[in-house]
Amino acid sequence: MLPATTALIRRRRSIKPVDMDPAREVDRALLTELIENATWAPTHGLTEQWKFHVFQADARHDLVQIMQETYRATTSVAEFREDKLKKMGETPLLAPVVIACVMERNGGTKIPEIEEVEAFACALQNLQLSATAAGLGCYWSSPPLLQTPMFHDWLGLRPADRCLGLIYLGWPKPNLTWPRSVRQPVENKIVWHVKKA
Ligand SMILES: Cc1cc2nc3c(=O)[nH]c(=O)nc-3n(C[C@H](O)[C@H](O)[C@H](O)COP(=O)(O)O)c2cc1C
Repeated sequence: MLPATTALIRRRRSIKPVDMDPAREVDRALLTELIENATWAPTHGLTEQWKFHVFQADARHDLVQIMQETYRATTSVAEFREDKLKKMGETPLLAPVVIACVMERNGGTKIPEIEEVEAFACALQNLQLSATAAGLGCYWSSPPLLQTPMFHDWLGLRPADRCLGLIYLGWPKPNLTWPRSVRQPVENKIVWHVKKA
């Protein structure tokens, strides 16, 4: 009944940076359109609680540096993994664009924080669907270090703000086989309540 919308939603896949073409830039007009579409998400009280920090070119090295410094400073000896640290140094450089997605807590006492987080997820889905429609690959990453005061200070967040993810964006490598995914039958996820007089 909604073939274009259904096809777009089901085509969106998490495309990892390793499958993106690092040499092919994403132009600013397209990025701006994707982000503007994100901002058209519903927000309770129209708080529009988002700020998108877009890292491209050499600015990605700054992101790598703070991610690695934060990981080193905030990970216990028992949990520290050299392979994770190394991957952190490589992944942001594989994608031409990395967006740190900041939820600015604007709702005060009227709008619960969870509602601002929920609205933010709507925005990021808008962004991902728009990217998919443009033929871009995208991937939402949420390493725990995004929640640390050290990373927050670096991004200039206020105490109640949160960084809800890194969105990696890039054109898929020309030979990429688009990943497949599965979902459970929808019947498992619906409880119909129908009462007729
Ligand atoms: C809030 C959120 C955080 C996520 N964080 C990660 C992450 O840190 N690492 C990861 O590999 N995938 C992450 N993902 C992507 C999911 O793993 C992915 O959406 C899921 O495997 C389904 O695949 P699909 O996106 O291709 O449908 C995240 C997704 C969401 C919505």
